Amino acid sequence: MAWRIEKLGPDLGAAVTGLDAAAPLDPAAFSELRAAWLDCGGLLVLRDQDLTPDSQVAFARRFGPLFGEADQLQASLHRYLLPGQPALYRVSNKVTDGVPQGRARAGDYWHSDVSFRARPAAASLLYAIELPESGGDTLFADMCRAYAALPEGMKARLAKLEAVHDFEVAARTSGTYDAAQLEHRDFDGQNRAVHPVAITHPETGRRALFVNPGFTAAVVGMAPGDSAALLAELQAHATRPEFVTRHQWRLGDLVIWDNRSLMHHAVVDYDGRGTRTLHRATVIAEPPRA
Ligand code: SIN
Repeated sequence: MAWRIEKLGPDLGAAVTGLDAAAPLDPAAFSELRAAWLDCGGLLVLRDQDLTPDSQVAFARRFGPLFGEADQLQASLHRYLLPGQPALYRVSNKVTDGVPQGRARAGDYWHSDVSFRARPAAASLLYAIELPESGGDTLFADMCRAYAALPEGMKARLAKLEAVHDFEVAARTSGTYDAAQLEHRDFDGQNRAVHPVAITHPETGRRALFVNPGFTAAVVGMAPGDSAALLAELQAHATRPEFVTRHQWRLGDLVIWDNRSLMHHAVVDYDGRGTRTLHRATVIAEPPRA
């Protein structure tokens, strides 16, 4: 292939140069790229992209059906979709003539995209359009390696457990949602789902932890205190430094991450010091399986 791929860390992440995601990519080349994405742990950075909204969406569709097309993101986010291109969710702290150009502080907590749906997110494809001079990195936690490092007794315990994921957790507790802009219909059950606490990745067969503090409300059947203690223990384990990779964005980066094997956290350390605008296309997954 004409593109070059370079590892970003010993276990997680790779950067691709020499590939134009807006140009036609034949099925064999796309399969190779998809395999590279899975092989590097699900964090692939395509450098130097020059994408229009339509070309980003066309490329994202090759990974699967998209939120905004085959299903909708939660109603509270609809105001942040790109006008004319509902498959792109705008993450931005920019305000023009008093109108926010995206959701500021989006993802400023550990989460896996849309995990509160029966069919959550598989890939997310986030494209950097405007960046502050420094800061605004994104952290990724490798939930496969975190799972693999658990003691066998804990793995056996988790194999029997399921957890409730609920958009309301982030909406009410993350401090990143403006209460006045939350849509009440988001809390009538359509943004709540039960998933296994440990899942098997449908494409790689690797086991992964599938709980996150952003959206995971409770472990099913456990007393609230025991559930909170277990979730806190798993969270502390999954975000140990050896499982976390920090992505420092460059303009034109298209980062493709796998929500079935990673959690992520936007670092909001640039407030008042620059504009950060990115567009996200989000691919719908199959229901997670233990
Ligand atoms: C997100 O959670 O999708 C946004 C991540 C970021 O802005 O870095």
